Amino acid sequence: MLTREENERLTQVGPGTAMGNLLRRYWHVVAARAELDEDPVRPVRLLGEDLTLFRDQRGRLGLIGERCAHRAISLAYGIPQEKGLRCAYHGWTYDTEGRVVDMPFEPACLPLRVTAYPVQEVGGLVFAYLGPEPTPLLPRHELFARDEFDKSVEITPLPCSWLQCMDNSLDPVHYEHLHVAYGNYVMKKLGKPPKMAAARHLKIDFDVFAYGVYKRRLVEGAGEDSDDWRIGHPILFPNTLLVGDAKAVRYQIRVPIDDSHTVHYNYNCWPRKNKTPAWEGIPVERTSLFEPNGSIVADSIVKQDMLGWVGQGPISDRTLEHLVTSDKGVILYHRMLLDEMEKVDRGEDPMGVVRDPAVNEPYIRIRWEDRAKEMFWPGGRTFEWTVPGLAHSA
Ligand code: FES
Ligand SMILES: [Fe+2]
Repeated sequence: MLTREENERLTQVGPGTAMGNLLRRYWHVVAARAELDEDPVRPVRLLGEDLTLFRDQRGRLGLIGERCAHRAISLAYGIPQEKGLRCAYHGWTYDTEGRVVDMPFEPACLPLRVTAYPVQEVGGLVFAYLGPEPTPLLPRHELFARDEFDKSVEITPLPCSWLQCMDNSLDPVHYEHLHVAYGNYVMKKLGKPPKMAAARHLKIDFDVFAYGVYKRRLVEGAGEDSDDWRIGHPILFPNTLLVGDAKAVRYQIRVPIDDSHTVHYNYNCWPRKNKTPAWEGIPVERTSLFEPNGSIVADSIVKQDMLGWVGQGPISDRTLEHLVTSDKGVILYHRMLLDEMEKVDRGEDPMGVVRDPAVNEPYIRIRWEDRAKEMFWPGGRTFEWTVPGLAHSA
């Protein structure tokens, strides 16, 4: 159980808050490239800040303030130019640094500027950095950086705090009930046969490593040498889960929009079937968790997890919780978040911030359970997943 103040410290993400300061040390997804192909100017909300994302006619990306410095119309109505974004109302034009570079009806252009943040792209996703300088490198995590997969992106807005998604990822035992008992109950209500079989958890454990936490579980029928127990699968601090199934491996990225809203990106990768470079045509699908009548039909694992997240309300009231032995991953993650906030207060980089190009090139490799690897690359094709020097090893 947390006090109200402790819960606020963990869930408030706006400018000047402790969690907001920590999250601002990381790059966050603000769009998929395909969305900018559809419309090169988009309103964006991230960490409680309203902004305008655009791609100018030369292909440069900009993320600037929500409103025009002239008479405060939304810049999301702007027109991309050779050099920036022109306001729809009277044509003031902004470059990617937020500087006004043209005032068509004035004798001279005044030296005005709006907020602007760095934006970069990797693997078909557009990331923004809202923190202090010096700007760290955009981490080239493996699935983003490698071009030998077919990929798809699924985007789902959720009316809840991002931390509820992460709490769920640090809680392996919910699998038995939410995905098996509840999931099969949903199937029964739909008149369909049960989809999932129970795998009783015998023990769970967590290993902190340079980029986050490995979660490990030993389930009934599996040996101590099973990959789920020996290696586990990683959570990339602060907001990404790696997960795989028989069809694909994916990052689940939980982008904090504000204290009570999250945009969930499923970044799916599977063995290549065509020859087009993956990011030339990564299809994007925007989905809703909710049926038209507002209900949730949780007939898949991801929808069941999302039900768990939004079912705790917009901001989970953790003063009501009773954390027990099986919640040790949740307790660990909150401790890590608080510790990393303190590092930021001391002026240090929190975990996973990348500044050394040698670490980032050609991409950041992270060891993962071999079960997923085998499903993904059948026939014994091997990749080295181990990051040299990490605390965790098989
Ligand atoms: S309100 Fe934007 S140019 Fe006037
Ligand atoms: Fe789950």
